Amino acid sequence: MRFVNKLFMACAMSVLMASTASVAADVKIGFVVKQPEEPWFQDEWKFADIAAKEKGFTLVKIGAEDGEKALSAIDNLGAQGAQGVVICTPDVKLGPGLVARATANQLKLMTVDDRLVNSKGKPLENVPHMGISATKIGEAVGQAIVDQIKARGWNMKEVGAIRVSYDQLPTAKDRVEGAISVLKQNGFVASNIFDAPQSKTDTEAALNAANVVLNKNANIKKWVAFGLNDEAVLGAVRASEAAGLKAADVIAVGIGGSDAAINEFKKPSPTGFYGSVIISPKRHGYETAINMYNWITANKEPEKLILTSGKLATRETYQAVRKDLGLQ
Ligand code: GLA
Repeated sequence: MRFVNKLFMACAMSVLMASTASVAADVKIGFVVKQPEEPWFQDEWKFADIAAKEKGFTLVKIGAEDGEKALSAIDNLGAQGAQGVVICTPDVKLGPGLVARATANQLKLMTVDDRLVNSKGKPLENVPHMGISATKIGEAVGQAIVDQIKARGWNMKEVGAIRVSYDQLPTAKDRVEGAISVLKQNGFVASNIFDAPQSKTDTEAALNAANVVLNKNANIKKWVAFGLNDEAVLGAVRASEAAGLKAADVIAVGIGGSDAAINEFKKPSPTGFYGSVIISPKRHGYETAINMYNWITANKEPEKLILTSGKLATRETYQAVRKDLGLQ
């Protein structure tokens, strides 16, 4: 009897295991990002791949640099029989269009990093989203800058600020406004904050924008810089170097902490890039992929809004901070 029982259990278990395995094997999830060459997005993909290996689903990675590519990525995933997609869209205003396209293709839709908005600029609250706590992280950037201004004994009134901006993206605006609020609270002169609008969110566009600010304000000798991400802030640093400013006269703090920042920290002598608030591509890549998997296989809908935090790192501390965040 005991033997029969055991045999029965063994059979039941193997049927269960086989069916779980086939569920996972049938699951296909798209992970679409707006700037596939950016280290942040490479890292997101890397961590999403880990989730796919762990759960045994197929991850389809697609780069979509403009709206048309994003919409055709959704169609492409639908045609491949995917059940869900996690996307960082190249244009948040595509919101309702992307939702419609995902619905037409019977794809569950989640956003990461950049939250979709409607025609009035209001977030689409029904689409589950994971992003960074943009204002808070911007404030951490501002605080790091203020602390360094004081540590270097600068006269706050004589310092200029380069606000590398991309205001059409809400998370970008919130980040720089967070930084500015802390600067102002600490006596930074509002008229010394100069907007440097990027045409694209990469280093080259930021460099060009920051160049204009520095050339117009050559009377200011000490500068701080902040922006959407490390790439933006590095553009301002390169512009300061081109303008002949010394590293000691520049305090630039980025957001991200991927390779762009790490390579800068590894340079033999410090540059104007003082620090970066490291955020977690592991959470944004791994967790969103797992959440989508659970949504597809267990009908467990992800939380509508998850905001992740960040931690300041400098040349001296970045290794320890990365370790802390499970990034090594
Ligand atoms: C935006 C930026 C990226 C990165 C993510 C983080 O998408 O463009 O560089 O900072 O936010 O959520």
